[in-house]
Amino acid sequence: MISVTIDGVIQEAQAGERLIDVINRSASKGPQVCYHPQLGPIQTCDTCMVMIDGQLFSACATVVSDGLIVDTKCTAAGAAQKEAFDRLLGTSRFFRASPPSHRWRSSHSTAASTRCRRILSARRTLDQTAL
Ligand code: FES
Repeated sequence: MISVTIDGVIQEAQAGERLIDVINRSASKGPQVCYHPQLGPIQTCDTCMVMIDGQLFSACATVVSDGLIVDTKCTAAGAAQKEAFDRLLGTSRFFRASPPSHRWRSSHSTAASTRCRRILSARRTLDQTAL
């Protein structure tokens, strides 16, 4: 077992474990649109960005090591997560100009619509957190 500090709280982890799995076991939950434990790190969304030693890293692509200090709530991580959500949503203009419930239903499947609503919901949650 090794120790990893996430947002000031020490967590136990297995050497070689993915940081995102350690974060998910901690009290610090964070966004992770393209990650699933059974699929591994796909690394296509960047919504899981965290700060380690003054640099931004994707939590899903980072393997923990003993003594790692991670900040998931700092201003830079939050801004990177929001930027990633904005990229995923294409242009925010599309959603502002036309509510998803109108245009989205007519041209996309229900699954895509549900996924879009989840992404928008996660993005709004990030907006509500203080940076
Ligand atoms: S969850 Fe998508 S890049 Fe990490």
